[in-house]
Amino acid sequence: MTRFVRTIRRGAILFRPFACVAGVWLMAAPAAGQGLAPGEQSYVSRCARCHGTDGSGGEFGPSITARVPIRSDEELATLFRDGLPAAGMPAVGVPGTEAADLVRYVRTLRPRNRQAAERRQVTLTDGRRIAGTVQNQSLLDLQLLGDDRQLYLLRKSGDQYRAVTSQADWPSYNGETRGYRHSPLTQITTANVGRVVPKWVFTLPNTARLQGTPVVSQGVMYVTSGNEIYALDAGSGRQVWRYQRQRTKGLIGNAGGGINRGAAVAGERVFMATDNAHLIALDRLTGALLWDAEMADWRQNYGATGAPLPVGNLIISGVSGGDEGVRGFIAAYDQATGREVWRFWTVPKPGEPGSNTWSGAAIEHPGGATWLTGTYDPELDTVYWPVGNPGPDFIGDERQGDNLYTSSVVALDPARGTLKWHFQYVPHDVWDFDAQQTPALVDMTWRGQPRKLLVQAHRNGFFYVLDRVTGQFLSGTPFVKNLTWATGLTPEGRPIIAPGQQATSEGQRICPHVNGATNWYSTAFNPATGLYYVQTNEWCSIVTRTPMEWEAGKGFMGGSFRLAVDEPPTARVLRAVDVATGRTVFEVPQAGAGNSWGGTLSTAGGVVFFGEESGSFAAIDAADGRLLWSFQTSQFWKASPMTYVFDSRQYVAVAAGSDVIAFGLAE
Ligand code: HEC
Repeated sequence: MTRFVRTIRRGAILFRPFACVAGVWLMAAPAAGQGLAPGEQSYVSRCARCHGTDGSGGEFGPSITARVPIRSDEELATLFRDGLPAAGMPAVGVPGTEAADLVRYVRTLRPRNRQAAERRQVTLTDGRRIAGTVQNQSLLDLQLLGDDRQLYLLRKSGDQYRAVTSQADWPSYNGETRGYRHSPLTQITTANVGRVVPKWVFTLPNTARLQGTPVVSQGVMYVTSGNEIYALDAGSGRQVWRYQRQRTKGLIGNAGGGINRGAAVAGERVFMATDNAHLIALDRLTGALLWDAEMADWRQNYGATGAPLPVGNLIISGVSGGDEGVRGFIAAYDQATGREVWRFWTVPKPGEPGSNTWSGAAIEHPGGATWLTGTYDPELDTVYWPVGNPGPDFIGDERQGDNLYTSSVVALDPARGTLKWHFQYVPHDVWDFDAQQTPALVDMTWRGQPRKLLVQAHRNGFFYVLDRVTGQFLSGTPFVKNLTWATGLTPEGRPIIAPGQQATSEGQRICPHVNGATNWYSTAFNPATGLYYVQTNEWCSIVTRTPMEWEAGKGFMGGSFRLAVDEPPTARVLRAVDVATGRTVFEVPQAGAGNSWGGTLSTAGGVVFFGEESGSFAAIDAADGRLLWSFQTSQFWKASPMTYVFDSRQYVAVAAGSDVIAFGLAE
């Protein structure tokens, strides 16, 4: 019997013919128990036919060796009890006494596929000979981690290999730090974009709808979801490595929902924030954890969802939790060590300078989160970071005053984290109009003068132009038709609040909707057209106020909202705003409910790419909005596109659902 067991244990393929006799085997099992680890017998009889005897996958189930470590014991026990019927895993029904052993046993499973340790020497087409360890391979490609600590992405070429890599990268959230998502790449043009086809797809297993922008550096693409990151060959989509840790149980807010908007690469390191407000650094080549810095205590409602921003030898990150009453901050860490270098609190503590803009008890749990990636101007050596709403979102009674620096943009000295200037878009915000839209840094001739501008299509419905040297307000124009909360802006840019536009206990109709005239999804500016491309929403909401006390583990919005019944038939409109005048030059209305959250990307090829309301990925002419191309993904957009060049070809990539899709010109 023992011999029989050994034969079975060699692999899933051998075992399959015996699957139908599993019942018999089970009955005979006790006699064979000796020599087996506790739980092993249970695994072999109940699980191996699907997941393989060593857990590396079989005909009816995937490899679980990488998925077990990110599940708690409790989650695994629940999984055995309930299964994942929709995904093909039946409820297995492991008796209680056996379950604990089984959990322990599955934690010992290691992949059978030893490819990763395989040593290889290959000759490249340019005559170089390289040696290293194989990370991954197929008929067509080979990933070799060279002994010289370089990652070689290789393509088969006869008996030899051709080394390929990227020629134009996208190393951080907006591609380059000024945040206007315009790429100088020109291979894909208005003339040939009709020939764009999908080149590869990578699916993140078991993930929430992706919200991140992929980043690309030195041939490798990094994509994230909550507490997980994958490194991919940017030309084939094949995995190089992955890093994942357990999601934080009991965490609330967006971070608790598994949202992550991306990574950043600088030097030899990749950085990302975890759901529980840690910032981590990984080895770019292997995914090994280098350091882990706790930014804040998640038990006090802090989370993190944004992609960090590399500036010099620092990595800068914000935190989420603005609807849960955290005290927001922006913090900078040494890229090499993870040591905190500075921290800028977005709201003063009681008694500190600026606290006189907060009258009442709300300053104890003030909000001012910093969950979207900021921007950086290398010439002015200034970081610009958007700051979120005060809390509770819809009730201002206990926070009379302007509530600095909530619903603002702050300009910081990156060496010290000190404030250079601030501009508050919404003093005393009671609408959740936090400023979490990218502050884009644009240089242009503005009203006859060359100027360094900061432009932002704000969630509150106004398109702002500021002087980014001084923070001076230059102009603010509505970019949506439905705007009721303010009647206009003063010459200093302060909103003129309309009467009766605050949440009530019965519910008050307010436009734009709480989700915004636009929101965090990317915007783009093309210097050649002078146009700013922004996805907008013509919707309104009914906002209800409900007084509440702050509590750890609870939301702190002070009310709720729902879509107003008079929503327009076409809520979602891509608008091209002329930065010089604030006027909309063209519109691309998109039929549908207006629920999608896809951003825009502009290229020097004269094309604007965006996720269109129906789920198609589309391209329009940057000059006039003419539709040039589209590809239906049937996904609900939550992400923004980017572009890069790999092996001399331009790609455009975007996350759709739980897939990352890379597009390029048909050969
Ligand atoms: C009939 C086939 C089948 C059997 C029997 C089966 N599984 Fe699964 N299992 C699956 C499938 C299919 C999935 C889901 C695949 C997916 O989501 O991509 C899965 C998923 C899993 C996961 C990953 C879950 C997650 O949340 O990431 C684990 C761990 C797992 N199974 C362990 C086990 C263990 C241990 C047993 C035995 C007690 C078992 N399975 C029995 C088919 C099976």
